[in-house]
Amino acid sequence: MAEDKVYPVDKERAAHSLINIDDYHRLYQQSIDQPDIFWAEQAEKFVGFFEPWSKVFDGEFAKAQVAWFKDAKLNVSWNCIDRHLPQRADQTAIIWEGDEPDSSLHITYRDLHQAVCRMANVLKARGVKKGDRVCIYMPMIPEAAYAMLACTRIGAVHSVVFGGFSPDAIRDRIQDSDCRTVITANQGVRGGKLIPLKHNVDKALEQCPDVHSVIVVKHTEADTGWHAERDVWYHEAISQVDDQCPAEVMDAEDALFILYTSGSTGKPKGVLHSTAGYLLQAAMSHKYIFDYHEGEVFWCTADVGWVTGHSYILYGPLCNGATTLMFEGVPTYPDASRFWQVIDKHHVNIFYTAPTALRALMSLGDEPVKSSSRASLRLLGSVGEPINPEAWEWYHKVVGEERCPIVDTWWQTETGSTMISPMAGVTDLKPGSATLPFFGVKPELLDAHGKVIQGAGKGNLVITQSWPSQIRTVFGDHQRCVDTYFKAYPGYYFTGDSARRDKDGYYWIIGRVDDVINVSGHRLGTAELESALVLHPKVAEAAVVGYPHDIKGNAVYAYVTLMTGIKDSDDLKKELIQFVADEIGAFAKPEIVQFAPGLPKTRSGKIMRRILRKIAANEIDHLGDTTTLAEPSVVDNLIEHRVNR
Ligand code: PRX
Repeated sequence: MAEDKVYPVDKERAAHSLINIDDYHRLYQQSIDQPDIFWAEQAEKFVGFFEPWSKVFDGEFAKAQVAWFKDAKLNVSWNCIDRHLPQRADQTAIIWEGDEPDSSLHITYRDLHQAVCRMANVLKARGVKKGDRVCIYMPMIPEAAYAMLACTRIGAVHSVVFGGFSPDAIRDRIQDSDCRTVITANQGVRGGKLIPLKHNVDKALEQCPDVHSVIVVKHTEADTGWHAERDVWYHEAISQVDDQCPAEVMDAEDALFILYTSGSTGKPKGVLHSTAGYLLQAAMSHKYIFDYHEGEVFWCTADVGWVTGHSYILYGPLCNGATTLMFEGVPTYPDASRFWQVIDKHHVNIFYTAPTALRALMSLGDEPVKSSSRASLRLLGSVGEPINPEAWEWYHKVVGEERCPIVDTWWQTETGSTMISPMAGVTDLKPGSATLPFFGVKPELLDAHGKVIQGAGKGNLVITQSWPSQIRTVFGDHQRCVDTYFKAYPGYYFTGDSARRDKDGYYWIIGRVDDVINVSGHRLGTAELESALVLHPKVAEAAVVGYPHDIKGNAVYAYVTLMTGIKDSDDLKKELIQFVADEIGAFAKPEIVQFAPGLPKTRSGKIMRRILRKIAANEIDHLGDTTTLAEPSVVDNLIEHRVNR
């Protein structure tokens, strides 16, 4: 059994860790039993406040009405920059590694201060005020970090849209949160390929008449379309403003950012995080889980367009005065040793990536890894999806040469920071297990009837009490927040995941139990994919499910019913796959399209996804009860024409 395999903490390492396992248990218990005392102490340690709080926690968890550090005043950019200037103005805050191996930059905390102040003043000059939403659609360049921090400096709420999203997806997100300002670059560069970011923004803005300003970073030499009354070059704008900008005094519960994420129904939701609680927990989890020590180089390979990039490229590390690495490229360009070359080049101590990248690299053999030294590496991390024990072992043996612990961090856009994870040098490890809850996090497993499972068992994963970096609302629709997370099991936050707990209390995340597919660590809603497919004029109906995939973890299998009279063909399959890429983004492309003359439905017309999932996973011997189907014969047709992989 995988759960019997334990990698105990290295004694020598434990001696240098920030805390030990006894501290963990003691502090954990305090964080659950006396959260006010625990969090007040941590807040004083990790965050600088302009004015103190009147109450640590206030509100009602079950209604998603929570406030942490009530009435306290602070500013996130001040915490991430200004606070560090007296001791570390000359220390590197951000190491930027460009797409090409010969391009990199070191940005000190002093540089960062100037750049963020200038960007903040540009936003002000364009009329952006506290509370306004700003859309950021950027490649992985330092200006993305400047833009995010500049928003926090003036109290604007950023909504970062991942650079892989299509114009339609950008438009929807801009409209939903009523952004009137967009920050972008003329082009992005990834793996030697150019990405037409400004062009995508221009297309999106055809249907966003309220956007008055587009600030454009000139990242490549390429020309771009231009709307003189609306567009402004970043390099020109910053030359006209001052490099000092006071940090706005923000309330602990003021909105900090919106980040759209897919759910099981409807359009993506704008998950809203607020100021103090989010910053505290991002910083604190960064420090404890990664056992971050002064002077170390921390590298999280995520994109700033996802929550991992927000919390562990930017806010957590910078709040702790760390040196954080930001990488523009991909793991396989110019070749499959790139990650490991970057680790050597910048003496990275802590490396945090996704299982999908590890599986892809593992399939290319050990040679690219072994061509590097990785002597600086002390610790490894994993995030975004379950890490299978094979990938874990490879990461441990080949990448970490058996000397680096692996922290498998489970969390979500909505949780803001890591919820279940080992702490490096503290927790004994089991390959494939996210192990134990972080401070202040009280998970439970519920059975099919909503009853709490005691001891070892398997069930739906819920969280039972508020934590500081929890989602505050879905932008513009609080009821949706309540309905999505707090309705399935009243009194609990439902994660959408199922998990197993073993006899040692270790958690093993199994995966989503809702209609969300985790493809290469990216969350895709089946409803979103289906809505995209049925927009195609030749498609009558579509049903989408996930199926296990060796590299991506899960991939998208789409069953498509064509309009009467339309002939199916391989070309049409390709066209539909491209259509989804155009509607949402290339990362959402279905792996497989199967044409289906009919879909399995109940007599009331509900599509039986359970059956579609089984067919996609090639588990046709275990289809279960099909007697409630309106037309059982459609299943035979689907099985007969199943697409073999
Ligand atoms: O299913 C879980 C999976 O990713 C989902 C959250 O996705 P997102 O909001 O995009 O955030 C991803 C980065 C935090 C979860 O509901 N997930 C995330 N981390 C893990 C994981 N599944 C297993 N193990 C993990 N370490």
